[in-house]
Parts: sequence; C-alpha cells; structure tokens
Amino acid sequence: MASLTIHDGNTVRSVTFTPPERLLDLLRGSGVPVNAPCGGMARCNQCKVSVTGALSEPDAAETALIPPGGGIRFACRAAALGDVDVFTNSMAARSVSIQIDGATPPFTVSNGLSGVGAAVDIGTTTIAAYLYAMDDGGRLGAASALNPQGAFGADVISRVQASMDGHADALATLVCGCITQLVESLLARHSLNHNDLTRIVLTGNTAMLTLLCALPTKPLSAMPFRAEHLFGEFRRPDALRLPVSAQVYLPRCVGAYVGADITTAMLAGGLITDGRVHRGKPLMLADIGTNGEIALAAGGALSCCATAAGPAFEGAGISCGMLAEPGAIDRVDWLDGRFQYSTIGGEPARGICGTGLVDTVAAMLDAGMLDESGYLDGGDFTFPGTSVAVTQKDARALQLAKAAIRAGMLTLLSETGLAVGDVDALVVAGGFGSKIRVSSAERIGLLPGGFAAKARAIGNGAGMGAAMALLNDGIRVQSEGVVGAARVVELSTNPVFMDEYVEGMMFEP
Ligand code: FES
Repeated sequence: MASLTIHDGNTVRSVTFTPPERLLDLLRGSGVPVNAPCGGMARCNQCKVSVTGALSEPDAAETALIPPGGGIRFACRAAALGDVDVFTNSMAARSVSIQIDGATPPFTVSNGLSGVGAAVDIGTTTIAAYLYAMDDGGRLGAASALNPQGAFGADVISRVQASMDGHADALATLVCGCITQLVESLLARHSLNHNDLTRIVLTGNTAMLTLLCALPTKPLSAMPFRAEHLFGEFRRPDALRLPVSAQVYLPRCVGAYVGADITTAMLAGGLITDGRVHRGKPLMLADIGTNGEIALAAGGALSCCATAAGPAFEGAGISCGMLAEPGAIDRVDWLDGRFQYSTIGGEPARGICGTGLVDTVAAMLDAGMLDESGYLDGGDFTFPGTSVAVTQKDARALQLAKAAIRAGMLTLLSETGLAVGDVDALVVAGGFGSKIRVSSAERIGLLPGGFAAKARAIGNGAGMGAAMALLNDGIRVQSEGVVGAARVVELSTNPVFMDEYVEGMMFEP
C-alpha cells in the first residue's frame, strides 16, 4: 500500500491506495477536485495538478506542454507509483463569476413553516445554494461553487458515461459533499446548524438529479433518451449522503433533457403561475448553456425542447476559451475603428469566456472582418497587446452552438403555430444567458431577429424557482401536475429543426 497526502489549503489528510494507479482516478476516488473537462481523455490539457512523490515519468507529449521538474503534472497522464503529495485549492474556493442573483414574481410563503430552508441549483458547471428563513421567506445568504463532478468531464454526456463505467458512487459523493459544504457554510454564517434546517429543495437537470441519487444513467445515454426517474418527490437525506434530518425535495423534471431546473426556472419566469400555465400572451423561456433548454407557454399549454449547443458558450473547445473567471475577456465592442474590451475583475486578459466570444464575433461582423457565412477574412484575430486569439475554428464552433439554440426556439414556435412577433417576452435564465449582451446575441443570430427587444433576464431562475417551491407548498405540488402535462418536442428527428439549424448557421439576425 502507498499513501496519498492531500494538502488542501490549511488542511492535510491522507488516504491509502494500491499502486500503480492513474493519478486522476486516485484523486477522483479520494474526493480531490480536479478540473478534467475532457473526462480524462488527454485532450483538454486542463487537468494540471501540483504533485510530488513517486510518479511515472512524463511522456514526450506532456514534456512538450509542461517543463519537467516543476511539480506540475497532468493528472490523467501521470501514474502514482508510490507515496505522493498533492497540493490543491478546493474548487469551492475558486473565484468564478457564478450567477447567483435572480428574481421571482411575487409569491406568498405558506403558513406554518419554521426553521431555515435551503434551495440548491445543481448546475452542470456550477452549484448555487440559498438559505431562507422559512417563516417569512427572507433570504439569509447565498453561496456557490464549481460542480466538483467536473473531475469526470465538463459535459453531461461524459458524466453519464462515467456513471455507467462504475463511478456512480464517486459522482454522487462529490456533488453531495459540495452541497453539504455550501449549506454548512451558509448555516455557519448565522450561527446555525443542521438541526435548524427543516427543508431542502434540490433542483437540476435530469442527469444531475439522476447522478445525485446514483440512479442508473443508461436510459439517458442513447436514443430514445428516456428518463426512468422524473422526480417530483421527497427523498431521504441519508440516502443522498446529506448529513441532515431535513425533508429533501427534488422537483419534477419535464423529460430526459428538460430537467427540474427548467421546471423551477418556469416558476421564476412566470410561465407557471397560480398553479397553472401562464394564460396571457405567449412567453418563451430559454436557458442557454451547453444544453439549451427552451419552454413556451402559449394558449394555456406548455411545450419544451432541448438542444445540444456544445460547450462553446462556456469557453470549452475554444482556443483561448475559459470560464467566466478573473482575466476572461467578457465584453467587446467595435468602436471608432478599433476593438475595445474589458475583462472580469479588470485583470490582464488571459482568455475569453462565452459572453466575450459572442461580443467578439458581433464586433468582427461590424468591423467587416467576418462575413455572414462565418469566414474570417484576414485569418485569426488576436486582441492587441494580449495573446488571446479568436480563430476561424472558434468562429465555426460558435456558429454550431448558436444555430442549435436559434433553431430550437424557432422550431418550438413553429410547432405551436406562432412567430417571433407573437411572443410577448423572452425570459432568459442561467448564468451565461443572463450575462450575454442580447444585442450581440441577435447580431450574430443566436436570437432570432426581434427577440433582443423582448428579452428579460431573470438570473438564476432555476435557483429562484427552487426557493419558491421551498417556501410555498402549493407552488411545489401544483408545479408537478403542470409539468407532467407539458409537451416535449423532440428535435433530433424534427424536419423544421433540421431546416432551421442549417439556415441558422449564418451570422445574421
Ligand atoms: S487532458 Fe483532459 S483531463 Fe487530462
């Protein structure tokens, strides 16, 4: 046996293992957060860890990327051969611009609730937790962290695959540990403890809830993409590895790829109101991210769809892409014949996040550097004074991502016999969607023409709707019935979607 010693901030702990073991697997199994967007396939070069000890020699590919002898290795390329020490900062401590604010329509708090409650939005990339006083619905605090399941890949598919490959327990342990840590930190701020916590609502997409409960993910992995569990139920906290005695509620999912996060976002966005589908002029909701989930409330009926946009909006697969962290270029304008940009935190530019990429492409169109077909005249563009570039390949990746979202919106409208002009408002939920500049989104054709003026951002709608379900029993119960009656429009075989997708590749409103 050998030992892995984990130095995480001020804490040190050790676990034993049988060498040799791939470092990434060892760290995953030990609950050490590692950023591994490609899921350990040695493709993303993001899984650098600070490590010393008995390790395999770096191969030529690794040596070409990391100078040897500096104590930095790619976790998926290195093998632990004996005792090793790893030095990490918990992912929860990473400074990431996570959307935790949000708005709800007015709602009442149910009578007779007591103690404090937590609403948690388990996003594929980030987790946001909110603490509330149950008697009056006052928000006591909010906290967020990166989803530590990122150690098994950035996207849902990688994690579903990892679960099928025997890592279901590890995935569940990681997310439950993160939720516990976030909720404990919120309780501690108010000198409260587990006993004060009476209810938790955990929302998330269908895969996230399935992984949380360590349920089989195979039905989610291949056509026809079914979900065996759509939730809308209470679960025992100990079965979820949560060290609390509170009631734990998981809202109802709409389908395999339209999850409980969309259910709760529809509550916050007003698509479900007073226990039924919004009755006024049509409302559309879009949660734009790696997966774009879209819902439409029209004529007293609810229809939804999901479209795979890929990770470009989160900066993954983009040559200088990064999450919305300090140093990410997030705003770009073409003004007075030159590019002007800002970075998160005002720090020196070290990459570009999704909102910056959308802005850059819009600015390139304004500058005449990029044509509507996506051809980058003059080659790759580097922001002056930086090493941050946007390449032809990046423009193509954005083309695919934005075409998928746009086509999803237009298909949903077509399926209900409506046009953009019939929609009263586009409710935009989610971190990326809430921060995107809608004028740029329309300029590049991510939003169909006419939608920018109708857009209304609600921030973390999933988290806010979870809070509504936490604090109002009627909202919680009635949402299950409304969502159960929603129509899911399957896009992969829909001819309208195919046509709109191809047409939507053009960079035009
Ligand atoms: S290169 Fe992607 S996880 Fe190691």
